[in-house]
Amino acid sequence: MKTPIYDFLVKHGNKETISFHMPGHKASDIYEKYGYGDFLNNIIRYDITEIYGADNLYKAEGIIKEGEERYARLYGAKASFFLVNGTTTGILAAILSSVKKGGKLIMARNSHKSVFNALRLGEIQPVYIYPEIVEAFNVCGEIDHREIKNAIISNPDAEAVILPSPNYYGICSNIEKIAEIVHEYNKILIVDEAHGAHLKFSDRLPKSAVDSGADIVINSIHKTIASFTQSAVMHVNSERVDIDNIKDKLQIIQSTSPSYLLMASLDISASIMEEDGKNLVNQLVDNIDMFCDKVRSAEGIKIMKQEDIKSSFDKTKINIDMTELGLTGSDVEKILREKYNIYMEMVSANLVMGLSGVGNSKEDFLRLADALIEIKEIYRKNEMINFPPIMFEKNLQVYHPAELVTEHSKWVDLDESIGCVSGSAIIPYPPGVPLICPGEIISKKILNYLIALKKTDVRILGVREDNKVQVQD
Ligand SMILES: Cc1ncc(COP(=O)(O)O)c(C=O)c1O
Repeated sequence: MKTPIYDFLVKHGNKETISFHMPGHKASDIYEKYGYGDFLNNIIRYDITEIYGADNLYKAEGIIKEGEERYARLYGAKASFFLVNGTTTGILAAILSSVKKGGKLIMARNSHKSVFNALRLGEIQPVYIYPEIVEAFNVCGEIDHREIKNAIISNPDAEAVILPSPNYYGICSNIEKIAEIVHEYNKILIVDEAHGAHLKFSDRLPKSAVDSGADIVINSIHKTIASFTQSAVMHVNSERVDIDNIKDKLQIIQSTSPSYLLMASLDISASIMEEDGKNLVNQLVDNIDMFCDKVRSAEGIKIMKQEDIKSSFDKTKINIDMTELGLTGSDVEKILREKYNIYMEMVSANLVMGLSGVGNSKEDFLRLADALIEIKEIYRKNEMINFPPIMFEKNLQVYHPAELVTEHSKWVDLDESIGCVSGSAIIPYPPGVPLICPGEIISKKILNYLIALKKTDVRILGVREDNKVQVQD
C-alpha cells in the first residue's frame, strides 16, 4: 500500500456509513444544500496561503476579520477568533493568557488533556475540582458551583477557573451561577464548550456559555456543526480578558500556515447557521426525541435523558447503556459498526456514545433505533456485566508535571507500576480525560481500575502496546 491513509479514506468513504461521530457535517449534503457544493469540488484550487488579498490570521484586517466578526455577532460575543488547530489551541491560549507563569488555576479534574498540557507549558499549579458522578450511567457529571466557591475562597491567588460544559456526555454545569461566583471574586471564567457549538441555536437545549456570562468560551465548530475537522472558534466575552495577550498566545501555539480550507469551512458554517441554524438544530432535537421515544419503549436499552441528570443535559449526545442485556459498550459499538455500518463516537466500559450533529438526518436516527432494537433481540446475553465504577483518586500528585525530566524516566510493566510516579499522562481516549496525570503516584486502586478498563477494549493513551508505562526514576 503506497497511500495507506488515503486508501483507508477511499475504502471507508465507499462504505456509505452512518456517522454518529465527529465531525458534525456527517459527510451529508449540507454544503450542496446551502449552495456551497463548489467548495467541495475545488479544494485543490482553494488550498492557498497568505497571498495578496487573503488577509493574515495573526493580523486580521480583511476577509478573516470579517469572518471572525460574523462569529462574534452570531454567538453574541465581544470578539471571536478562528482556530485552525482545534479547541485544543484555544484552551492553551486562554489559560496561558489568563494565568501567569507559575500561577494557580482552578480546574475541573475531568478536563480535556489540553488543560493539563497548559499546566506543563505555563508551570501552572492546578487546584482540582472533582465532578459529580452520575452513577446510573457511570460517567462524570456537573461541576458543582459550591465547590468552585470553596476552591476560590481557599485559593484567593488563583487567577482563573476552567471547566468543560457540556462534558463529553452532554452534561452541563450551571455556568450562569458559576460565572456569578467567579466574577464576584474578580477571576476569569473559561468554559471549554468544545461540544456545545450548537447550543446557541435552540432554546430546547441548555443555554450557551457565552449567553451565560463566561469570559472566554471555546467551540469546536467541527464537532457538532458543519466545518472541517480541527476548525474551531474562541469567543471573548468580557472586559476582564486581555485580548492582545490572547492573540499573542494564539500566534505562538498555532500553525504559521493556517489552512484556508479550514477557515473557509468555518465561514461557510457561519453562513449556514446564520441562515438556518435554528431550524437545523431544532430539527436535530426533533429527530432525537423521535429516536428516544422509539428506543426507550424497548426494555433493556437505557438512553440518558434529562431526568437522569441533576443539571442540564444536551440531548444531542446519545449515551446508550445495554449492560442489562449483557452487552458492554464495546459489544454494542462493534455490532453497530460491523453489521449495520453505523459508526459511534465513543465507548466506555458500559456505554456507547453517539455524537450527533447538524448533518444527521431523520433516516440516520431511524437506522440507529432499528439496529439497537434488533441487537437487543439477537445479541442479548444472559450474563451480568461487572464494569468498574468510574473514579478519581485525590492527592496523588508528588511532582508538578513541568518538573518531570525525561532523562530520569524508564518504562515498567503496567501491572508492576504500583507506587511509581507516572512520567506521562494515562488517558482513556475518548473522552481524553487523564486518569493519571504526569507526576502522580500510580495507586493500587487506580491500577485495578485501569486494568479493568483495558479489558473492555477502551483505548488508553500512555500505555504502550507492550503494556508498559513511563515512570520517573
Ligand atoms: C471536552 C473537550 N475539550 C476539548 C477538546 C479538544 O477539541 P479539538 O478536537 O477541537 O481540539 C475535546 C476533544 O474531543 C474535548 O472532548
